[in-house]
Formats: sequence, C-alpha cells, structure tokens
Amino acid sequence: MLQNKYFWNRFVDWMIDEDTLRIGKYTYKGKIVDIFPEIYKKARYGFELEEIYNSFEDINSRSLKLFINDLIKKGILRNRISRIHELFEKEFEFINSKYSREFFFKRENVERFRRDRLNRHMRYDTKYDRVNLFRNIDLPKMLYRRRSVRCFDQDKIIEFEKISGIFKAFSQDIVNKRYLYPSAGGLYPINLYIYIKEGRVENMEEGLYLYNPNEDAFNVVNQHCKIDKESQYFTNKNIFETSAFTVYFTYDGDVNIPKYGGDGYYFGILDCGIMIGLLNFIAEYFGVSSCSIGEMDFDKIEHYFELNKNEVYLHSVEMGYSKDQM
Ligand SMILES: Cc1cc2nc3c(=O)[nH]c(=O)nc-3n(C[C@H](O)[C@H](O)[C@H](O)COP(=O)(O)O)c2cc1C
Repeated sequence: MLQNKYFWNRFVDWMIDEDTLRIGKYTYKGKIVDIFPEIYKKARYGFELEEIYNSFEDINSRSLKLFINDLIKKGILRNRISRIHELFEKEFEFINSKYSREFFFKRENVERFRRDRLNRHMRYDTKYDRVNLFRNIDLPKMLYRRRSVRCFDQDKIIEFEKISGIFKAFSQDIVNKRYLYPSAGGLYPINLYIYIKEGRVENMEEGLYLYNPNEDAFNVVNQHCKIDKESQYFTNKNIFETSAFTVYFTYDGDVNIPKYGGDGYYFGILDCGIMIGLLNFIAEYFGVSSCSIGEMDFDKIEHYFELNKNEVYLHSVEMGYSKDQM
C-alpha cells in the first residue's frame, strides 16, 4: 500500500511559553503541550496517522486526534506538496525594502517604481564597455502586436477553429512523443484547464474542461460549476468578467518530482512560464488577446477541479477578443 505520510510545514514556527504551546498564530493548552515536542520530532521526518495515534499512551486518544486534525486543517501538518504561496511567502524577509504596502496603492508611485526598475541596466552601462547590436532587424509583426488586454469584447464569439488552433500548440505528437515547447526531462508536468463562459466560444458549452494533449481534445471536468468574479481580487474582476475563457495552469508534482526531487517543482514553474509565453503568442497569431493574472483566490474554486493530491494551481490567463482602445 502507498504511504500517506504527514510532515511538519517547515515554514511554521512553534514555541512553548510556560503552559502554552504557540504554533504560528495559534495557541494550545493542556496535556498536548507536554507531548508536542515529540509529535514535532516525528513530524519532521513524516508519520502515518495510525503511527502517531498509537505512540502516546498518557493522552486521551480523542484529544490527540482532534489536535492532529486541527493541524492538518490549518496546513501545519501536510501530506502534499506546498501550495505556491506557502513556498514563497517568506522570501520577502530577505529584501531590504523601504516601501510599505500602501505605497503601491498610488498609481503615480507604482509608475515611478516601475520606471526606476526598468532603467536598472543603465547602471552597468556606465560601468562596462558597450557593444551596440544591429538595430535595423525586422522581427515578426505579431511580436509587436502582443500586449496585455484588460477589457474583452463580450459581443464576439471565439470561433471553434481559433480555440482549436490555440490549443494545437500544446498538443502531443503521439508518434514521436514530442511537443512544440520544451520541458525538463520531456516530462510535461503542467496541466491546462479551461473555463468557458456561456455563449462565448463556438461549439462549446459553459463549463470547466481539461485539455488532453494526447487526443488534442477537451475533457469535461465540470459542466455545472459557475466560476464568477468572486474568485478574483478587486483590480482583476473586470478582466475576468469580460473574458471569453480562462486558462488555468496547474503543476502535478507526481509527474517529475520522482525523477528530480524537489527541483522538479522549480522546473515545473519554468515549464509553466514557457507555456504562458507560447499561449500569449499563439493566441495573438489567431487575433485573440490575453492577460495574465498574478494573484487570485483559487481556494474559492479549487473544489471544481478535482486536482490530484500533489497537483497545485500555478497561474491563470484571461482570454478573448480585445475591446481595449488601441
Ligand atoms: C506573472 C504575471 C502576472 C500578472 N498579473 C497581472 C494581474 O494580476 N493583473 C493585470 O492586470 N495584469 C497582470 N499581468 C500583466 C502585466 O501587468 C503586463 O504584462 C505588464 O504590465 C506589461 O504590459 P504588456 O503585457 O501589455 O506588455 C501579469 C503578467 C505576468 C507575466
């Protein structure tokens, strides 16, 4: 039988302060405080639930089960790979930032910050000699056309031929087992889910689909779910509301972690970035616009997806015909 081990979430601190156990922002009292250091030691190396329930005699087994279940519910003990937010949320501690969160609420501050960042290479220009490249080289026009579109035309229907063309770029050449884009080890751990809005894509009913690259087809995941703007944070609600369809990228750790260990997760994120780039440009080729969405409340809609245990949400892209002023 496959193991189902639970591990301590290494991003969560704990301490015992007299008779109180503090785990992250939560506090516990009672008998559990005495045995907790032993539970923690076991959790560092992973334990099966039955194993932990049978390890302690001097605590009521119901209290122990309640405690362990509570830690699981809060994500402090887990039997799956980290969600993307859990993985990176502490990284800001290393950045010596003089900016408060409020600073970024003001449009002019954001613009000033951005301009400063975009000019950062000029520092090197004063430090190092320069080799100028040819400037009169033409690139495909499509590359210049692409830009993020935040208001889509709700009166236009995406033709079935166009959505077929866009997804063909992600299909598998089943004879040679090849794709049009690279992936670490040729393992392709990213899944593409598509939420189609009612009446917005020819031949397609509203619902959530999973793209199947072997068959170059959509499998119906959930035809009855209603994903709405509540899954989006304030600034992105309008983008979601007007788009014709959304592409969600998930990473399945079971696909490449067995080969690469934890680095497989990192490779999966790189694969996802490559796929987002390809999606942007292939859509633009078909005249369909897109906008990446950095943060959303995926927890609100995750239950529709039936993700595997080690499958996590990474990113989404809103798509449709542009209504933005050029
Ligand atoms: C990872 C990522 C996350 C993004 N998140 C958002 C977002 O949440 N909302 C939004 O309006 N644009 C988002 N964008 C679009 C960027 O704001 C946009 O690419 C950038 O301003 C450059 O403009 P352009 O794409 O029109 O060239 C995101 C882009 C990327 C690559």
